[in-house]
Amino acid sequence: MSIQYRTIALRADIQFAAILILLTGATSVYAQQFRWPEEPENLKVLGQDVKGAKLGEVMRSFATALDVRCEHCHVGEGQDLGQFDFASDEKATKRKARLMLKMVNALNHEHLSKLAEIDERNAPILEVTCMTCHRKQQRPVMLQDILADSIEADGIDAAEAEYRELREKYYGGFSFDFGPGTLTGMGEQLGKAGDFESAIRLLNLEIEMNGESATIYFTLGGVQASADLVAEARTSFTKGKEMAPDGWKPFFQQQLDQLPDTKD
Ligand code: HEC
Ligand code: HEC
Repeated sequence: MSIQYRTIALRADIQFAAILILLTGATSVYAQQFRWPEEPENLKVLGQDVKGAKLGEVMRSFATALDVRCEHCHVGEGQDLGQFDFASDEKATKRKARLMLKMVNALNHEHLSKLAEIDERNAPILEVTCMTCHRKQQRPVMLQDILADSIEADGIDAAEAEYRELREKYYGGFSFDFGPGTLTGMGEQLGKAGDFESAIRLLNLEIEMNGESATIYFTLGGVQASADLVAEARTSFTKGKEMAPDGWKPFFQQQLDQLPDTKD
């Protein structure tokens, strides 16, 4: 059984062509010395037909999906691929990648293929690839995971700084979702867990990054109300109510009516 990597392989090919154009004369000598093996020695998961150029497509798709170079998984370093020991299983990352290959095979051929039993079509029409999960990361972590770890280890200041840094570096790519919702969802969860300070900071960061909305003010008002910041909650619910479509306004009014009276 072999895996199809059509989309990713195409992207990888474009990148590879661009890299080749950029390479100096000296490095293209290395490129000439390395040949994708027609008789790979140590393939345990990839099928018999995966050799030569086809093996190249698969390996480049791995490197692209994880945003790494060959030496992430293979023994060797530098530009001269001819000096690498590709058959060696020494690196844990290679052994992990093999496990991943088995997992991807199982997903596509044992599970997604069964979609065809439900409706009459040739399933899977869409196959899972490394990129589906990895999104150009060595481990496919979500923005939420990184921020939650950061809050726990170093506090909300560090988490906010990390968010700004990640956004600077990755915005526009698809590794992380910087759009509205990620910080709102986290703020809501942190609020429920009683970490009001972190929740309010992330919700204000959401407003700074993605602008005001009825949804964000509804969430912020809720957290502020739980934290007994009554005046702040009133301001948030009022702003939210102004921005909300008519059908939603009663929900904001209900929240406002539930707030205890303040003297000011
Ligand atoms: C994410 C890890 C990973 C990356 C990155 C990676 N490979 Fe591999 N490579 C593997 C795995 C796993 C196998 C073995 C597959 C199997 O057992 O079916 C393999 C097998 C090979 C083989 C066959 C070796 C043999 O004789 O058995 C070659 C050649 C190879 N890779 C070259 C490359 C090159 C060149 C790159 C960089 C463009 C690269 N690989 C990037 C994981 C990786
Ligand atoms: C269904 C989602 C999914 C797919 C598809 C997937 N991976 Fe992974 N992969 C993961 C997750 C999740 C982890 C991290 C697990 C952990 O560290 O707890 C991981 C970890 C890895 C690691 C180890 C990272 C490390 O440094 O410890 C490698 C290497 C890897 N994947 C390669 C691949 C390759 C190559 C493919 C395609 C053949 C692939 N993965 C497809 C979800 C996926």
